[in-house]
Amino acid sequence: MKMIIYFNESSTSSLKSLICAEFSEKKFEICKTKTSDGQATSALSPALQVDEEINFFSSNAACLYLLPIPLNDSNLLSKSSEWLEWESSKLSPAVLKSSSSSEGSNLLKYLKKISAHLESQNFILGGIAVSAVDISLWCTLYPIFQDDKCMQMISKSDEFANLIKWNERIKTLPQVQKALKEHPIKTISIGQLKEGPPSVKSAPEQKNSPDGSANVSPDMKVEVAVTEDELIFAKESWENGMKLLEKTLPDEKIILPKEGYKNILITSALPYVNNVPHLGNIIGCVLSADVFARYCRLCNYNALFICGTDEYGTATETKALEEGISPRQICDKYFEIHNSVYRWFGIGFDYFGRTTTPEQTEIAQGMFMSLYKNGFVETQTVEQLLCEKCNRFLADRFVEGTCPHPGCGYEDARGDQCDGCGKLINATELIKPRCKLCAQPPVLRNSAHFFLDLPQIEPLLQNWVASSESGWSNSAQQITRAWLKTGLKPRCITRDLNWGVPVPIEEFKSKVFYVWFDAPIGYLSITKRYTDQYEQWWKPDPKHNVTLYQFMAKDNVPFHSVVFPATLLGVGQKHVMVKHIMATEYLNYEDGKFSKSRGVGVFGSDAQDTGIPADIFRFYLLSIRPEGQDSNFSWVDLATRNNSELLNNFGNFVNRAIVFCFNSFNAMIPTIQLEAQDMNLLALINREIKSYVESMEVAKQRDALKHILNISRLGNQLMQSQQPWVLLKGTDDAKARAGTVVGLSCNISCLIGVLLAPFMPETARNVLTQLGTSLAKVGRVNPERPSFYLLLPGGHKIGKPSPLFTKIETAKVEELKKRFSGRQSTSPAKENADKLSIPELEAKILEQGVKVRDSKTSGADKSVWSPMVEVLLGLKAQLAQALKEDGKGDVTSAANTTPKNKKGSKKNKA
Ligand code: 2FM
Ligand code: ZN
Repeated sequence: MKMIIYFNESSTSSLKSLICAEFSEKKFEICKTKTSDGQATSALSPALQVDEEINFFSSNAACLYLLPIPLNDSNLLSKSSEWLEWESSKLSPAVLKSSSSSEGSNLLKYLKKISAHLESQNFILGGIAVSAVDISLWCTLYPIFQDDKCMQMISKSDEFANLIKWNERIKTLPQVQKALKEHPIKTISIGQLKEGPPSVKSAPEQKNSPDGSANVSPDMKVEVAVTEDELIFAKESWENGMKLLEKTLPDEKIILPKEGYKNILITSALPYVNNVPHLGNIIGCVLSADVFARYCRLCNYNALFICGTDEYGTATETKALEEGISPRQICDKYFEIHNSVYRWFGIGFDYFGRTTTPEQTEIAQGMFMSLYKNGFVETQTVEQLLCEKCNRFLADRFVEGTCPHPGCGYEDARGDQCDGCGKLINATELIKPRCKLCAQPPVLRNSAHFFLDLPQIEPLLQNWVASSESGWSNSAQQITRAWLKTGLKPRCITRDLNWGVPVPIEEFKSKVFYVWFDAPIGYLSITKRYTDQYEQWWKPDPKHNVTLYQFMAKDNVPFHSVVFPATLLGVGQKHVMVKHIMATEYLNYEDGKFSKSRGVGVFGSDAQDTGIPADIFRFYLLSIRPEGQDSNFSWVDLATRNNSELLNNFGNFVNRAIVFCFNSFNAMIPTIQLEAQDMNLLALINREIKSYVESMEVAKQRDALKHILNISRLGNQLMQSQQPWVLLKGTDDAKARAGTVVGLSCNISCLIGVLLAPFMPETARNVLTQLGTSLAKVGRVNPERPSFYLLLPGGHKIGKPSPLFTKIETAKVEELKKRFSGRQSTSPAKENADKLSIPELEAKILEQGVKVRDSKTSGADKSVWSPMVEVLLGLKAQLAQALKEDGKGDVTSAANTTPKNKKGSKKNKA
């Protein structure tokens, strides 16, 4: 037998295999995985390799191989797997956190727990001898035992007395001494052992996780024994499940509703085109909707997934002014950015469109005309500020002046909010108002606008909400009720702007629709770009029974639950109404907010630049999806979950199953002869599949993901309890049993690949390819009868094994934390490098002025010169700003005044 231990002198994981190898008394070689400058030679090295064929990527699995737990004691086996899982998911990250931050962690709590557990026994699993579990835990804690300050601190308290004795016991063992002497390792410095803050964001720790008293692993429920019925069902399904699946939907170019199928229309909120999406935006809408759409396809539902960019509105105009290009150019530029970001994340839209299309104009104008004819709009006159010099009505953010709030007097207040006192402002109340573009004082003018008569539609709406809200996420229900409770007022749906859908009424033709009036209409017009049969989805024939699912973040809820449905009810053309509003809360970044301007967080292509695969981001974002409350993105957490849940749990299981099949069974699934204990396992797996389906149907994607990981835990337990590597060396019966275990494990891996496909499509494809199959062949879930059935029969040829995941090292985590912490991109030097100087701006203004004049005098249409004017105004605004910064030199004063009231800040819609 040839054994190689892959050794990295700065990793305590390597120490684990080394010590366990000493205990095994087998001969082994060492292969170093780090070069002298600390770089990994290969990210994909296993912890241990046996006979060039069995790879153990998880160091804990390697420990168990080298120092096995007696096979006949199932209680001991399950205890040991709980402890090892706890080590990788809790203890090891806590040690890491103590070394990398000053915040403290749960480490002290964990040390106390181990110490208490050792109260009446010498080793973790009891008994008289050290076990793989002791070695694993001890190696992880090795940096603490090496650190004088830490040891001084813990030796002061009796609570740690047992832990200290256990350390003495282990460190003096000859095998441990020998390993450390021959291959010393560098330990990380722990700093001070501090108690962490009570954790509010992560799930509460289960009291009965590894303390030896209960058979519960952290994410698993207490197991209730399987029933007779479950066993019968498991056997029946295993044998016949595949046949029970109905016919698969034909693969058609254009998806239209189909009789006899579940017709599911899925939308994800249309992201504003004027900014780059961050991870919070991605999990909030497109990623969640994508997981749902992929799940629907697994279930053979006839699903259509539509999205696109939301392109109209003041925010786009402002951005255009900022960047000195036209709104159209802004839309084209950012549409491409969104498109490529989503492509990288593997978002599988059936169609990704945009709102600035002729189809949008046609549908929005048509809907407005129906509302108008049906008497659901009214006109009202509104007082607005007009800049006579620029010849435009000024949106609130385009007016500045002195704050009207008593005692403030801040001179650079904006028309929507004062940065001096933080209060909201009515633009018309500003003292000494001035146009932001030309600094001229604007004048008050009356402007007539259309209002959607919500009070008149309210009774219809109330009825509809009452009959629909049961399918909405909790927050969507609450937000809607709060809106309806205060009573609805008429809402202004037009604006004095250029960039929008023109209002199709003669006296109003210089006005456009308010962006929130037309944005949801974008869902329809984008579908129309996809197929001119779009009404089959949006005004469906009742026999097709189309169900609409809409994904969004919570701030979008009122527009989807009140304003847009009211529009559709007022239009009165039997449009499909939303059945399921799937709203998420917000995602924070490292306990703060994402901020593009401060460079905090991961935006656009940043994720791609980290070198971490898209599937890992998807997995992590989905496992922290802000479902019931806001959640938090943290790099340490991402690395921990990658290293423990993906690498150690899932990757380790799948890789072992495939490697065994490949090496010991000639890459062919062996004959599977299930025994009673296997039926029990099938029944447990069926429970997880059922819970997975229940969660997925209501978009509880976080929970669904946990059920998949539970299945791979069950798979690991199967391997660990049956130890096929031992069986293979035994009698013919034992060999046949090894075949069953390996065949079953490959089938479980295949099942996991299928269930994981909505979450990690690339990984799923990889797993299924290694298993010699594909999603097209086995990618089906039967939601009516969720169960595990034979996917890969005996004799099926599999592909070549290769590791699925790579460890994310501490150094990488530190680097990423720093890179996106806001200390990088906003350096003044860089910002200034992008800015034009005053003379440059003056030259550009002159040049642009000539263009505008030429165009106007040549008699060109307004649509030609108006974008040029916009560019000119933008340049002028930049110049005004540059002159201000140059002349006054005190423009930072605003930043020194802390706003007192941030609550009122609104999202950036006109
Ligand atoms: O909040 C936003 O990003 C909006 N652009 C969402 C619009 S959703 C739909 F109505 F178009
Ligand atoms: Zn002006």
